[in-house]
Amino acid sequence: MPTDLTAALADVRTLLLDAPNLSRAVAAGRRKGLEPPAAERVEVRPVALKNGPHLQFTARTGPVVSTRNVPVADAGAAVDELLAEPYGNLHVETASEVVQVRVTKKGDAQVHRAAAEHAAGPARHDKAKQRLVDPDDPVFRVLGAGGDKRRQVEAFVRQLAPLAPTVLSRDGERVRAVDLGCGNAYLTFAAHRWLGQAARERGKELVTVGVDVREDVVATGLKAAREAQLAGLEFAVGSIAGAEPFTGARPDLVMALHACDTATDEALARAVRWGSPLVLAAPCCHRDVQRQLHENRTALVRHAILRERFADVLTDALRSLVLQVLGYKVEVVEFIDSAHTPRNAMIRAVRTGAPRGSRLADLLAEYDDLTRTWGVEPALARMLAPELERVRQAAL
Ligand SMILES: C[S@@+](CC[C@H](N)C(=O)[O-])C[C@H]1O[C@@H](n2cnc3c(N)ncnc32)[C@H](O)[C@@H]1O
Repeated sequence: MPTDLTAALADVRTLLLDAPNLSRAVAAGRRKGLEPPAAERVEVRPVALKNGPHLQFTARTGPVVSTRNVPVADAGAAVDELLAEPYGNLHVETASEVVQVRVTKKGDAQVHRAAAEHAAGPARHDKAKQRLVDPDDPVFRVLGAGGDKRRQVEAFVRQLAPLAPTVLSRDGERVRAVDLGCGNAYLTFAAHRWLGQAARERGKELVTVGVDVREDVVATGLKAAREAQLAGLEFAVGSIAGAEPFTGARPDLVMALHACDTATDEALARAVRWGSPLVLAAPCCHRDVQRQLHENRTALVRHAILRERFADVLTDALRSLVLQVLGYKVEVVEFIDSAHTPRNAMIRAVRTGAPRGSRLADLLAEYDDLTRTWGVEPALARMLAPELERVRQAAL
């Protein structure tokens, strides 16, 4: 029920100035019909400096970040200044509760209070601050995730974090994410927790769906989601190629972690057909292109180990070109040290719209040159043949 905004802001002020109990707070979003605040987003944290406890204000506008530290004893004015800005959403985490204030169209406050998920001692609190994913999250025990998997999931979410505005800054109150080939759903849970929090800070809700062909892993995921009482986390049994996680709406974020062989291509093809704005895929084995190179006797691929490694590189290079031709800006990066998984490449793709003119011609020429030279047709191109043909026709 909407309440008086002045009273809600006074409440937030008290929480911000109670530094020993404050974990963090975020002011973001703009109020309907008002000029935007001075900074897009301000995060407030208590920090212990040599000269005593301070509140740290980190303001971000686009890529510009500025930080100032104010002694807690003198922080009243800085907090008042922040709360005078016309932010649409305020999110405060303390040791015992999470308070969210959303300013309604009429200028009232919609206040939501919940108990803190982890009431933690100082040591655990410091540790949680450095990580995006809590490695001690009880759900990992329920799902049976070992240390390497937890690190992979942390590293995956770290790649997601700087790109999250791509999906969070879109219109609409609901953000949709899908984890294709979710398996035991370690990533599904971790990404849902992190992105869900980021969405709530912007007054949005996140719905995440994990998809897998295996009924048993989907049942385990569902059970763990119910036990953890995680709102907005769902699972579906089915093939990636036929996945329709959100009736009538496209996923904003498509994730795939180690979806075997061409299951990664199915995930990428699905994302392209949905027109999803953000895709993060860490591929697994690459047998499709490897098989096609089998008859090739050139030195680069004559020996099995070299063929395997070269096929990895060629497959991801061709995937990257196909995605670029079909309207994505693509980067292929190492998302985690190879000590934790040999499958440590990630394709990060942000939808930008189809390239045109000489840029498109260059991409197609590069793709044709590579596929002709190596005599391969990658799975992703087979799956997206109609889309690629349309682009080729348009480029003529
Ligand atoms: C290597 S596991 C990775 C699981 C999880 N993403 C992770 O990193 O822990 C690959 C998962 O993809 C699923 N999978 C493979 N091909 C699939 C397809 N075509 N459609 C749906 N799921 C598929 C498998 O059942 C398996 O659970």
